[in-house]
Amino acid sequence: MEGKRSRIEDHPILDFKRGKELTFTFNGEDIKGYENESVAAALFASGVRVFRRSLRFDHPRGWFCGIGKCSSCLMRVNEVPNVRTCITPVRDGMIVERQEGSGKLPNKSETEKTREQKDVETLIVGGGPAGLAAGITAEKLGSETLIIDENFHPGGQLIKQTHKFFGSREQYASVRGISIADKLLEDLSNYGGTYLTRTSVVGYYGKGKKHTLLGVQRTDNGYKELEFSAENIVVASGAQENYLDFPGNYLPGVYGAGGVQTLMNVYGVRPGQNALIIGAGNVGLIVAYQLMQAGVNVKAIAEALPHIGGYLVHASKVSRLGVPILLRHSIKKAKGKRQVTGATIVELDENWQEIEGTEKDLDVDLICIAVGLSPSTELLLQAGCKRMFVGELGGWIPIHDRSMETSLSGMYLAGDVSGIEEASTAMMEGKIAGATIAGKRGHKPKNAEKIKREAQDHLKKARKSPFLKPVAKGKKKVWKRWNEVS
Ligand SMILES: Cc1cc2nc3c(=O)[nH]c(=O)nc-3n(C[C@H](O)[C@H](O)[C@H](O)COP(=O)(O)OP(=O)(O)OC[C@H]3O[C@@H](n4cnc5c(N)ncnc54)[C@H](O)[C@@H]3O)c2cc1C
Ligand code: FES
Repeated sequence: MEGKRSRIEDHPILDFKRGKELTFTFNGEDIKGYENESVAAALFASGVRVFRRSLRFDHPRGWFCGIGKCSSCLMRVNEVPNVRTCITPVRDGMIVERQEGSGKLPNKSETEKTREQKDVETLIVGGGPAGLAAGITAEKLGSETLIIDENFHPGGQLIKQTHKFFGSREQYASVRGISIADKLLEDLSNYGGTYLTRTSVVGYYGKGKKHTLLGVQRTDNGYKELEFSAENIVVASGAQENYLDFPGNYLPGVYGAGGVQTLMNVYGVRPGQNALIIGAGNVGLIVAYQLMQAGVNVKAIAEALPHIGGYLVHASKVSRLGVPILLRHSIKKAKGKRQVTGATIVELDENWQEIEGTEKDLDVDLICIAVGLSPSTELLLQAGCKRMFVGELGGWIPIHDRSMETSLSGMYLAGDVSGIEEASTAMMEGKIAGATIAGKRGHKPKNAEKIKREAQDHLKKARKSPFLKPVAKGKKKVWKRWNEVS
């Protein structure tokens, strides 16, 4: 095996519930994993760092996002190629192989394949904080709701957020993200909502009387095709991590900071020994602290801006623990052949150009990229929603109104897919979408209107904070454009 075995046994906050020990094979060799672990996490914990090789340059590729949003972990599982092993749970006797090129198909399909149709009043794609809040609200008001999510752990990004939230009681102030996920899932189940895991929505197939979506559910025995039809859909598909261009950026050891969070906080696997973090926004700062909780030595945080982007309370915490936050610095290159063995950082001038002679070598085996997120808008754009570019919201986003409806009637959105923000504001947007749909369908319309107004007021207040002011500006641009196109 290529790397160190790295399961975390002792953590100040987390008690990892890994479940039953199971055995599967990787390239013919026995690997131990656990029933609550993904295949990619179990491989990483056993020392595997190279998951595949790039098609064009044959570069080694390893873990990156950990949430099914890139192509770094594609492998052949039980003969099926291109399986995203970071969202595939370990099962006893599974055969996992590093795949050659774009993947070999099985000679004969021996997997179970069935097709089912599901008709629901309110369908929600994505069960993170936004989707869950939309589902709970719609169901509470009387609209039958189904949430679909491709991960096998429900809760979106909340399940890796060990820090306590800020804000008011409605925003779960002082509660850890992981506990918020549990609370939301319990509420959904108490109101009678359904949550389907391991199911990816892969395409939009138009609107007759209702919108139609195609989903693929992965079972332990094979695949099930699911055709969903619904008059109202909320897409709450979240966001993906941005990449950064530098020599060696493909090497195993260069991971998304959120991917690193998943590895250590969801699966209890230590991602490396010595880390460099690129980006001092909230994700970079929080991950630095969480890496230290997991026993990783954080050598530095390099930030290209002349100021820290995240909350100062997070920055002070890591500074107090001796981690230097180097402003106007970036990464020049990652060193190593098969995986990261070091990094070179460099100072930048006010025009973002590297200053010659300021290079510093760092002895690290882990480089976390925390340079922002981009909304995961594929499904909405494929469906034909009108879009616009809004830098303050993270890039291209579907144009929407204050009720979270897009230019396609009955198609709503909420959370990071409508602009990068926070879990607390994602929940408010979810509430607005859920209440709007229930109200329009005639379920307790007065209550629905009240819930919607209250959530809109909370959002307005939250976006007055200095950190969310740019979001408020971005949303105003979207609403202005909405008035022009609607
Ligand atoms: C990698 C990452 C790390 C983050 N870390 C922090 C942090 O440490 N602290 C903090 O305050 N904020 C953090 N955030 C921001 C915060 O978590 C988000 O603002 C919040 O989770 C957004 O909620 P959401 O419901 O919009 O999306 P998410 O929580 O991302 O949920 C989206 C869900 O949609 C599912 N999905 C996507 N596409 C499909 C599809 N086609 N079919 C089925 N399911 C699908 C995904 O599996 C996922 O569960 C992070 C965000 C990301 C992306
Ligand atoms: S899709 Fe698995 S690491 Fe990105």
